[in-house]
Amino acid sequence: MQKNNDKREKAFLVGVILKGSSRVQIEEQLEELKFLAATAGADIIGKFTQNRSRPDPATFIGKGKAETIINQASELDCNLIIFNDDISPTQIKNLQKIAGETTKVIDRTGLILDIFTKHAKTKEAKTQVQLAQLEYFLPRLTRIWTHLERQMGGIGTRAGAGETQIEIDRRLIRNQIAKLKRELTAIDKQRKVQNHRRVNAFRIALVGYTNAGKSTLMNALTDADVLVQDQLFATLDTTTRKLENIEVGIPVLLSDTVGFIRNLPHNLIASFRSTLGEIRDVDLLLKVFDASSDNIHEHIDTVEEVLKEMDMPNKTNIIVLNKIDAITDPQQLSGLKTRFKEASFISSLKNIGLKELSDRIEKTITSEFQKDVFHLSFKQTKLLDTIYTLTRVLKKKSDYNGIRLEVEGNRESLDKIRQIIEK
Ligand code: GTP
Repeated sequence: MQKNNDKREKAFLVGVILKGSSRVQIEEQLEELKFLAATAGADIIGKFTQNRSRPDPATFIGKGKAETIINQASELDCNLIIFNDDISPTQIKNLQKIAGETTKVIDRTGLILDIFTKHAKTKEAKTQVQLAQLEYFLPRLTRIWTHLERQMGGIGTRAGAGETQIEIDRRLIRNQIAKLKRELTAIDKQRKVQNHRRVNAFRIALVGYTNAGKSTLMNALTDADVLVQDQLFATLDTTTRKLENIEVGIPVLLSDTVGFIRNLPHNLIASFRSTLGEIRDVDLLLKVFDASSDNIHEHIDTVEEVLKEMDMPNKTNIIVLNKIDAITDPQQLSGLKTRFKEASFISSLKNIGLKELSDRIEKTITSEFQKDVFHLSFKQTKLLDTIYTLTRVLKKKSDYNGIRLEVEGNRESLDKIRQIIEK
């Protein structure tokens, strides 16, 4: 049951400085958590940090501290406590017991899942997010929680699990999870068919940390009308548009993708694999970062980690440092220019460096997209399918020796085909 979804909630943040992390790091993470909470629809009315050598197994922070925070939050008329760390199902259940029926306790993952639920637009994104949320929700389900969901609704309770009495029957949730998985497999199959048709084009994807300005850049380079908001994860669905101003003889397609974030919830990585899977086959990645952010290095590390997890760390790419208009300290900009010599420095908002970026994309395409000639013996005709899938066939001629094909495609695909032919 979705209640109070549009009303802003009051939230209290809790950050724990564990051994190995510094106060500055945790404060920065709390800033991001605040941004996440604001995106979900909450105003932050207080925060609490604590040094601990390791988490308390039962309540993450000490029980006494938990009681103090919950009392303090309730004094401030706050109904939501958000932990910066991932809290185990048992710890959440115990904390929720202390908090009672008027205050919800969630963790960062729960919050991110909530935002994804709010922002999912297409059937695929909605299905993926619901799946992730139910998987997350299942081990955390308690009577208090279902009571909270029914009575309060709002942040952290949007899975809709209480709606059909599912709260007393985990089996039903499991069935629903299985059903969603089946639906996703069907959607995935359908997309593969659609992707198949798009092969004869050079494909570029925008990837980057959330809020880096990917959608703004997409809008600036194409006539797309992608939603731009100063929020985290404004875009969940992949949008693809043609890049009209780049003339290389073949269509050039640009896709905007979901933003990455530090410690992306695990169930989300799994369920977004297929959305991000679309970019696995692209020919060029534009890695977009907010050059004005103090955390740019952490953002770069996160993006590289996710790409590694997607098995695509070594794709041809251009590093795009966006928002240079927002850098006030000239030394910061020159520092970045020294550090990232190969990067394109732009402002999507103020139209700085976009022409240079387009020229660079064009050059990359010309060097990546090449012509080649393949000879197939009649024994190898079964390779025709692969060749037609991976390349654009310009000419095909058969003689008594076999088939001669003049093709055009990206270097990676051409190399792959040559290897198969020569095997
Ligand atoms: P997600 O959907 O969260 O992944 O975000 P995104 O990377 O698509 O970012 P989006 O384009 O939605 O922009 C996020 C915010 O940054 C918006 O408020 C934009 O107006 C702002 N922004 C984007 N590009 C620039 C820029 O070049 N300069 C400045 N100052 N702000 C920018």
